Amino acid sequence: MDKVLIIGAGGVGKVVVHKCAQQKSVFKEIHLASRTKSKCDAISREIKSRYGVDIPTYAVDADKTAELVALINKIKPDLLINVALPYQDLTIMDACLETGTHYLDTANYEPLDEAKFEYKWQWAYQDRFKSKGLMALLGSGFDPGVTNVYCAYGQKHLFDEINKIDIVDCNGGDHGKAFATNFNPEINIREVTAKGRYWAQGQWHETNPLSVHQGFDFPAIGEREMYLMYHEEMESLAQNIKGLKQIRFWMTFGQEYLTHLRVLQNVGMTRIDEVEYEGQKIVPLKFLKALLPDPGSLGQSYEGKTCIGCVMEGLKNGQSQRKFIYNICDHAESFKETGSQAVSYTTGVPAMIGAKMMLQKKWMTPGVWNMEQMDPDPFMEALNQDGLPWQVVEWNSSIT
Ligand SMILES: NC(=O)c1ccc[n+]([C@@H]2O[C@H](COP(=O)([O-])OP(=O)(O)OC[C@H]3O[C@@H](n4cnc5c(N)ncnc54)[C@H](OP(=O)(O)O)[C@@H]3O)[C@@H](O)[C@H]2O)c1
Repeated sequence: MDKVLIIGAGGVGKVVVHKCAQQKSVFKEIHLASRTKSKCDAISREIKSRYGVDIPTYAVDADKTAELVALINKIKPDLLINVALPYQDLTIMDACLETGTHYLDTANYEPLDEAKFEYKWQWAYQDRFKSKGLMALLGSGFDPGVTNVYCAYGQKHLFDEINKIDIVDCNGGDHGKAFATNFNPEINIREVTAKGRYWAQGQWHETNPLSVHQGFDFPAIGEREMYLMYHEEMESLAQNIKGLKQIRFWMTFGQEYLTHLRVLQNVGMTRIDEVEYEGQKIVPLKFLKALLPDPGSLGQSYEGKTCIGCVMEGLKNGQSQRKFIYNICDHAESFKETGSQAVSYTTGVPAMIGAKMMLQKKWMTPGVWNMEQMDPDPFMEALNQDGLPWQVVEWNSSIT
């Protein structure tokens, strides 16, 4: 087990290829495919000159299962790493089933015509993957991904019972642009403009978009305003963490970003339905994506750090405890190593580590799994070795 096919040559895909190429003993053959072959070729040239590794490249439309099946049958990878867009998750999972290939992604399936984040579509593949002896690892990015593994680590080592989790995500960096998103603008804006949702006392509670917020003093960054949002990892964590009574997700935004977003929303530019324009049908959000800076291009002038982690409260030996597990990642250092900023880096590194866990059979169980269902220890060890070191500290202040 040492041959991978990576699909998606965007900001995250580029980091995954770099990190896999750095570990030649694990990833003996790396293939890269995306909708636009020239993007794969540019990454392949960079990898050849930096690490001396050959990366064959291909064009594929991952919305079409038959095209994927033909490509997979030609390459015969052990594992497919899906870092295209969430819209392609199901067609790629279908192709993996048909060809007998293990599967990994970083974001859950979303239907194109509705901003809806739910695992139900992918969890429905459980029996089919299991019966074919195949594994699908869902959400192996940072959040979802590392945040799920932090919770599993808390459950295994720090607490007898975790009652409350707050996932906090801060990008304290500055890319120097008036308005840009750090990963795919379409996916990012759909996520941010959706209603907030959190889970408490066994049920989901909804809030208006970005209406609930508070300050948080982020290590290495300082005080920032963070906003309650829905985020997909809460769905599986609410089911898999024993004794959990509440889970919320918070992300920081600057005033400049929020003002631009409000204007874009007010004028209809974030709509995801088709509108008629000069005899053509266009989706405003897709058009906006074409105008905004490519997230992959932001790295050059990005300064500052990200801090993402989990504040957990619970009981250990009958005593109340509050711990914060987090990572700090520097935009400029990420760019120096991989040519990508820290948001792509913090997603691409865990995708590589998840793939490594599967290829080395440290994580290899047939079926469809979320990250917290695996043993956190080898993954946590790899985070420290592969560029995303973490810390655990006592955390005094409660998030209200
Ligand atoms: N878990 C996390 O922490 C986390 C964080 C950030 C992002 N993500 C996820 O990571 C993924 C990649 O994000 P990104 O920022 O790298 O996005 P991106 O820069 O937009 O890259 C997406 C890539 O997928 C390719 N693609 C899109 N549709 C395709 C299709 N039908 N067939 C083949 N290739 C297709 C695109 O090809 P073209 O360029 O040719 O169109 C592009 O190269 C997304 O699913 C995102 O939600 C996860």
